[in-house]
Amino acid sequence: AVLSQDDLKTLVGQAALKYVVPGEIVGVGTGSTVNKFIDALASMKDQITGAVSSSVASTERLQALGITVFDCNEVTELSVYIDGADEVDPNGYLIKGGGAALTREKIVAAESRRFVCIADESKLVQNLGKFPLPVEVIPMAVNRITRQFQAMGGTVVLRLKDGAPLVTDNGQHILDVTGLQISDPLAFESQVNQWPGVVTVGVFAFQKAQVCLVGTASGVKTLT
Ligand code: A5P
Repeated sequence: AVLSQDDLKTLVGQAALKYVVPGEIVGVGTGSTVNKFIDALASMKDQITGAVSSSVASTERLQALGITVFDCNEVTELSVYIDGADEVDPNGYLIKGGGAALTREKIVAAESRRFVCIADESKLVQNLGKFPLPVEVIPMAVNRITRQFQAMGGTVVLRLKDGAPLVTDNGQHILDVTGLQISDPLAFESQVNQWPGVVTVGVFAFQKAQVCLVGTASGVKTLT
């Protein structure tokens, strides 16, 4: 049978279980692929201590399955963080934030020794930047940061929800930026991080994936 994109997400979500360390707390990302992982994690709930979550949505899903969710400040150094991505390049550099959870995702990724990215093969790219780059910003800086991206050749859209600017779990807004050349993700992330009012840029280069489990028509491929 032909595997759907949803089937590929299920496959990688299940494959990620082997990176979960019994007795420990696992870092959990956000999105439709991670939802498959969370559902699979229910089978291990008696073996793990719990999870640290990167969004209200993931927290609710974990708790509904009986998995204890810890505050990030209650833990020091998780061994593994499992999350999806919007784009994955050959170095494991990512674009994330399509689900607006990028800030907490980057925090939990930073708290973790190893980032295992789970994605279907549609997420693989040679160079980052085709997917509109999410950037979480302080509302009063929206216009100023928009102009800064425009000066780099970017086209900027303020993300809306139900006709009004989307408000993140952290009370901020999201800009989605297209038309950028992100040839050096580390330099790009450093540069945008300097702009006043930027909370988090959706390039994950300093917090890149060490392992990527990619769902393909012929099974799960492990990229390191
Ligand atoms: C959430 O903010 C994102 O970073 C997600 O990890 C990303 O959008 C992938 O989501 P899907 O698994 O739904 O494609």
